[in-house]
Amino acid sequence: MSQRPVWAPDDVDIETPSAARMYDYFLGGSHNFAADRALAEEYIKVLPDMPQIARAQRRVVHRMIRYLTSIGIAQFLDLGSGIPTAGNVHEIAQVANPDARVVYVDSDAVAVTHSRSILADAPHAAVLRADLRDPEAVLADPVVTGLLDFSEPVAVLMIAVLHFVPDEDDPAGVVAAYRDATAPGSHLAITHATSDYKPELARRAEAVYTRASHQIHYRSRQQIADMLAGYDLVEPGLTDMIHWRPDPDTGADPLDGDVRRYSGYAALGRRP
Ligand SMILES: C[S@@+](CC[C@H](N)C(=O)[O-])C[C@H]1O[C@@H](n2cnc3c(N)ncnc32)[C@H](O)[C@@H]1O
Repeated sequence: MSQRPVWAPDDVDIETPSAARMYDYFLGGSHNFAADRALAEEYIKVLPDMPQIARAQRRVVHRMIRYLTSIGIAQFLDLGSGIPTAGNVHEIAQVANPDARVVYVDSDAVAVTHSRSILADAPHAAVLRADLRDPEAVLADPVVTGLLDFSEPVAVLMIAVLHFVPDEDDPAGVVAAYRDATAPGSHLAITHATSDYKPELARRAEAVYTRASHQIHYRSRQQIADMLAGYDLVEPGLTDMIHWRPDPDTGADPLDGDVRRYSGYAALGRRP
C-alpha cells in the first residue's frame, strides 16, 4: 500500500496509475503517487524521450494560445486539462488579455482538486470534473455555461487527450459534437501521439498503458486528420508538433529536432 499524502482527495484510488498523474510525473510535478511513478518509469524505459515530449506538448499549446489571443479569442474550453503545471492556459491567455475566460475539464480527481485550489482566486477561470466523451453534459454544466458564451468564438483545446479516447468511443464524433456547439470563428487545438514513425515502439508504449486508468492509442496521420473534419486548418496545418509555428527565440531542440522521437502531431482548426 502506498502512503496517502495530505493533498490527496479522499475518494482517489492511489493504487491504479492515472494518466493525469503519470503526465504530471513526466513534467516533473509532485502530484503523483508511487504507483503512478512506477508505471511512468516503465513507460520511460520504452520511451526515454517522454519527459521532453511532454514539455514540447506544453510549448506547442502555449504557442497556440498566443496565436488565439492575437486574433481576439477570449474564451477557452480546455478538455482533459490535466494537473496544473507551469504555464496553465489561463495564465498564458491572460498575459495577452486579462479578461480571457477559461474552463478546465478533467475526469481525474487529483487534477480537479489541484486545479480548484489554484483557481480559488482566479475570477475568470473554473474547473469541472467531467468525462469529455459526454459533450452534452459538459456543455450544459453551469460551470461551463456560467463562464463561456457559446454565441461568441471559443477555443476548444484537446491537448494530449484524444489518444486516450478509444475508437469505440468515436473520438471524431466527440470532437464534432463540441464543434457543432461553437460559433463560427471558434477554434479547435489538438495534439495527438502517432504510430507513423515508430509503429513497433508505439505498440510497446500502448502495452504499458493497459495498466493505467486510461489506455493510450497511437494513431496514423490520416486517423487524426479525420478528427478535424469541419475545420479549416490554420497554417501550417496538421504537422509534427515541433513544426507548428516554432518560436524563433527558442534555443536548440532538446531532441535534435527529430520528429520521429517526438512522434506527435499538432493542429489548430478554425470553424468557418
Ligand atoms: C496527458 S494528460 C494532458 C494534460 C493537458 N492537456 C496537457 O497537455 O498538459 C491527459 C489528461 O486527459 C484526462 N482525460 C483522459 N480521458 C479523459 C476523459 N474521457 N474525460 C476527461 N478527461 C480525460 C486525463 O485525466 C489527463 O489529465
